[in-house]
Amino acid sequence: MHNITMLGTGLIGMFYTQTLHANRSRDKVHVIYSRSEQKAQESAKAWGVEKWTADLDAAINDPDTDVVIIGLPNALHKEAVLKTARAGKSVLCTKPLATNATDALEMLRAVEKAGVFHGYLEDLNYTPKMLKTIDSVRKGAIGKVLWTRSRETHPGPHSAWFWDKESSGGGALVDMGCHCIEISRALVGKDVRPMEVVCWADTQVHPIDVEDSTIGLIRYESGAVGQFEASWCFRGGMDLRDEVSGTEGTVWLNHWLRTGFEMFTNVGQQGYVAEKAEGDKGWLFPVGDEVAELGYVHMFTDMLDSLDEGRQPMETFYDGYVVNAIMDACYRSVASKRWEPIGLEEWRGGEGAGVDVGSTEYDDKHYLIKEETMPDGKTKLILKEKDSGRIVELIK
Ligand SMILES: NC(=O)c1ccc[n+]([C@@H]2O[C@H](COP(=O)([O-])OP(=O)(O)OC[C@H]3O[C@@H](n4cnc5c(N)ncnc54)[C@H](O)[C@@H]3O)[C@@H](O)[C@H]2O)c1
Repeated sequence: MHNITMLGTGLIGMFYTQTLHANRSRDKVHVIYSRSEQKAQESAKAWGVEKWTADLDAAINDPDTDVVIIGLPNALHKEAVLKTARAGKSVLCTKPLATNATDALEMLRAVEKAGVFHGYLEDLNYTPKMLKTIDSVRKGAIGKVLWTRSRETHPGPHSAWFWDKESSGGGALVDMGCHCIEISRALVGKDVRPMEVVCWADTQVHPIDVEDSTIGLIRYESGAVGQFEASWCFRGGMDLRDEVSGTEGTVWLNHWLRTGFEMFTNVGQQGYVAEKAEGDKGWLFPVGDEVAELGYVHMFTDMLDSLDEGRQPMETFYDGYVVNAIMDACYRSVASKRWEPIGLEEWRGGEGAGVDVGSTEYDDKHYLIKEETMPDGKTKLILKEKDSGRIVELIK
C-alpha cells in the first residue's frame, strides 16, 4: 500500500487520482498540491483526498507519503523531480519527462544517485491494445519490424500553459509527439538505437510561438523507420492511431474515434462525451472506460507492482530521456531541413543491430522475391538469379 502526494489538480491529476482510487484501491492519494489553495481544497473534497496544500515543498516532504506523482506543466517537472529525489521518495512523472534532453538527463541522474524508484508515466504504451500488440511483436508475430506509424491529433489542448513556450517547452511535438515516439520505440524494440530524424513542424493555424503540427521520421539502427504525426489543428475529436508492419505481418490500432462504439443523437447527450470530443450532438464516438482505454489502469498497476517487487517498471526516466533526446533532434531538423543525428550521451541499449536485407531461398539457382496469385488463378513468382543478379518471372 502506498500513500501518495499528487502534484497538480488539472486534467491529469484528476485522471491519475481516479485511477488510483478506483483500481489499486489499496493505494491512496493522501496529499494534493495545487498552486491555488482553493483549487487544492476543492479537488481534495471532490476526489476524497485527506490533505491539501498550496506549498510544493510541504506536499513533497509530507511525512506520511512515500510516492510523489507529478502532474504539473512540463517546465515544472524538473524542480519537482529534483526535490522528490532529495526527499528520498519514489517519483512518477507524467510525459514529457522534461522540456529538453539536458534537463531529462539531469533528472535521471538525480533519481539514480538518490537511489529512488522512478517511473515515466507514458500511458499510451499501457493501453490494453498496445500491451497485446507489444507482446505479439516481441513473440515474432509480424517478423522483423520495418515501420511504425503513430498519430495523435486533436483540436488543441485545454489550458493556456500548453500554448506558451516557456511553460511547455514546445508545441504539438512536445505535447503529443512524445507519446508517438515512445510507442515507436516500444514496437521497434527499446534495445534498438534510434540514429537520426527528419522532421517538419509548422504553425498552421494559431497565433502562437510553438508548432501546432508536426510530422517526423525516426531511423533506427536496424533499418526500421518510425513515423509520427501530431497536431493541434485536427477537427473532429482526438485521433489516436498506431500501426506497425514487419516482414511477416501488420497491426492496426484505433484507440479513440471509431473504436466500435458509435452513437448518433439529434438532441445531444447533455455534456461531456470523451476527451477532446467536439460537441455532444450528431455522430459521437464515446469511450467505454476512459482511464482504462488510455492505459492509466495498467500503467499504475505496473508502476506500483514494480515498486513493491523491487523491479523496474516498463517505462522509466531513462525512456523519458531518450524521448527528449529524439525531440531535441527533431527541432534541429525542423531548423536545418535535413536529417539530424540523435545525440544520446547515455545509450543503454544494444549496438550493431545493422540492416539485414534477408534473402529467401527458392532453389539452388534463385532467391524468391515475391509470390502472388493472379486473377486468372495462376501463381506468379518474381525471382532473382543468384549468378547474374537478373530479376525474372516464373508463372505456374
Ligand atoms: N496522457 C497523458 O499522459 C497526459 C494527458 C494530459 C496531460 N499530461 C501531462 O500532465 C501535465 C499537466 O497537464 P494537465 O493536462 O493536467 O494540465 P492542466 O492545465 O489541466 O493542469 C495543470 C495543473 O498544474 C497547475 N499549474 C499550472 N501552472 C502552474 C504553475 N506555474 N505553478 C504551479 N502549478 C501550476 C494547475 O493549477 C493545475 O493543477 C503536463 O505535463 C501534461 O503534458 C499527460
